[in-house]
Amino acid sequence: MSSTTTTESPKVQAFIDKEEKYGAHNYHPLPVVLTRGEGIFVWDVEGKKYFDFLSAYSAVNQGHCHPKIIQALKNQAETLTLTSRAFHHNLLGEAEEFMAKLFGFDKVLMMNSGVEAVETAMKLTRKWAYQVKGIPADQATILFASDNFHGRTLSVISASNDPTSRVGFGPFMPNIDRIAYNNLLALESALKANPNIAGFIVEPIQGEAGVVVPDEGYLDGVADLCHKYNVLFVADEIQTGIARTGKMLATQAKPDILILGKALSGGVLPVSAVLADDEIMLTIRPGEHGSTFGGNPLACAVAMEALKVVLDENLAENAEKMGILFRNGLQKIAEKNKLITLVRGKGLLNAIVIDSHEDSHLAWNICLEFRNNGLLAKPTHGNKIRLAPPLVINEGQIQEALAIIEKSLNAFV
Ligand SMILES: Cc1ncc(COP(=O)(O)O)c(C=O)c1O
Repeated sequence: MSSTTTTESPKVQAFIDKEEKYGAHNYHPLPVVLTRGEGIFVWDVEGKKYFDFLSAYSAVNQGHCHPKIIQALKNQAETLTLTSRAFHHNLLGEAEEFMAKLFGFDKVLMMNSGVEAVETAMKLTRKWAYQVKGIPADQATILFASDNFHGRTLSVISASNDPTSRVGFGPFMPNIDRIAYNNLLALESALKANPNIAGFIVEPIQGEAGVVVPDEGYLDGVADLCHKYNVLFVADEIQTGIARTGKMLATQAKPDILILGKALSGGVLPVSAVLADDEIMLTIRPGEHGSTFGGNPLACAVAMEALKVVLDENLAENAEKMGILFRNGLQKIAEKNKLITLVRGKGLLNAIVIDSHEDSHLAWNICLEFRNNGLLAKPTHGNKIRLAPPLVINEGQIQEALAIIEKSLNAFV
């Protein structure tokens, strides 16, 4: 949390004050007011340029305002934006086919925000449990991992063990259980103990928890156990997917349900999607689920272009290569600067753990110093700083960013 108060220029402070006065206080942003973005850079209202090392929580994998995605947006915005699903439109089938084939599933259900897609996956998991697995009515349980983050709706925070997400928002949804992350024994004993478990929803890497990377083989083990106990393996790749971790998806084991969001639109629109094969997807019938904006023509045009950019520009490969370079650089800094106790991550989803308690202001103050030196990042859970630039970053820019990170950390020792 915050911190030291900072002194901003009157111009910057005026923007911050207006938000404070008229906006809900449900966020605590770093004091920087952005007005423009291009590629890996953003500019503030005073014209100062920054490396964006958050990428809107991995939504801007393709870089800010990617010209091809913006062109697709403009073209479609002038043609047809929304029909609702009361009628067909000419792009939905094409977008669904593109995504289904790219990710290897029979069918796609498009929604808008990430959390809506998680809700959709929870509903599908329950429907499948009653219609296919044969769990008695209203008895299905969904399993989650501890320290998860899947969004902010009531059913999704019912799965959270983070007090900041939960306190004051009860009562919670029943029939949700949690087990330790990265622990196959815990998963198997939970599956053995309860025949009414319908699915296990898990992040392949826990992003919000501070980029917690599970052991090699964990996700394969999850897939095998879910298969063995006839339980759906549901992968929430909203943050890890679409090339962020150096592969199109972070899980190499095929989930039964795949959830995507964020970079599915390159950060241009809220577009999310749930993918599954027919046995699961067709359990939901007309009228049982939907959204006015889900699968709208603008979203379809933008999502197809956003995915094409990832493929055409080999962003997965670049994320893998740049990620190795970046973590090596961070390790070198950590050898000299004892403030970093751990460097972890995969591809360009990385974090440093700062030598302080979760309730200390140190990581926040380090992020302020990053900002002063021209790089934007934000702490998560107090003492972890996620470092996740757009995937279009190149080697020279990685070295420049490392120099800023090193210089900023040196100001604290
Ligand atoms: C893994 C994961 N799932 C779900 C969400 C929620 O997505 P949204 O904020 O678009 O609702 C997030 C957002 O950070 C996420 O990281």
